[in-house]
Amino acid sequence: MEPLVIARNLHKSFTIGNGKGKDKQIQVLDGVSLDVQPGEMVSIVGPSGSGKSTLLYCLSGLEPVDAGSVEIAGKRIENARPNAAAKIRREHIGFIFQSYNLVPSLRAGENVALPARLAGHPLTRKQLKDVLGKVGLADRAKDKVSNMSGGEQQRIAIARALASHAEIVFADEPTGALDTKNANEVLRLLRAVTDEAGRSVVMVTHNLEAASIADRVVVLRDRQIVSELSHPTPEQILEKMEVSR
Ligand SMILES: Nc1ncnc2c1ncn2[C@@H]1O[C@H](COP(=O)(O)OP(=O)(O)OP(=O)(O)O)[C@@H](O)[C@H]1O
Ligand SMILES: [Mg+2]
Repeated sequence: MEPLVIARNLHKSFTIGNGKGKDKQIQVLDGVSLDVQPGEMVSIVGPSGSGKSTLLYCLSGLEPVDAGSVEIAGKRIENARPNAAAKIRREHIGFIFQSYNLVPSLRAGENVALPARLAGHPLTRKQLKDVLGKVGLADRAKDKVSNMSGGEQQRIAIARALASHAEIVFADEPTGALDTKNANEVLRLLRAVTDEAGRSVVMVTHNLEAASIADRVVVLRDRQIVSELSHPTPEQILEKMEVSR
């Protein structure tokens, strides 16, 4: 089977203006390649600021790259025009943002239902209820998300990605704002996504226990993938993170 994500030799920098006409260039990714197979779960770990979120944005066409290529389900997305990239995302990608990115003016249920509606296969009432139930918020569909706690908003963002039926779910610190019980439940749900035929999950996390539920863990450091581990224990991940220091 073809990988669902094929990223080759990605280079990414940001230009930061200092207000005095002298721009500074910071290199964030320097030759990153990553394939993700259908049904595979990959965790990305690395120090804060190592470019994990940026990598997810580049993989999903939300950030342009300086060089390299990204194929999503056979379609080139890097540097695609905004409409073309949005179409690929709508059809193939569910994204759980580090900052949730819910629509504050919409109710929780409306947020969850939005991507499926935009992709042209709206959820039934039962599907909406079921997916909200999965994240423990079955009775909160009518709540304004701006009135919900951080952890609740994160679970709504997760329900939204699960409900989209995208083959690829990118999750940026999906358990960052959750207590242990809810975090474990979310990890179980993400793992279940990959165990349903053909869907893939790429998850960024600081939590090595969480990272270790994946099939593969990649360590990002100094702008590159410095280590790849198959079915590692948290201790093995820690060891690689320390070795690459
Ligand atoms: N839009 C931007 N403009 C300028 N610099 C940026 C931008 N986005 C990210 N950066 C810089 O790129 C680097 C990588 O940031 P990124 O958010 O990808 O890191 P991260 O690994 O996700 O960190 P964390 O674990 O704290 O979330 C950082 O130095 C950050 O300041
Ligand atoms: Mg980040």
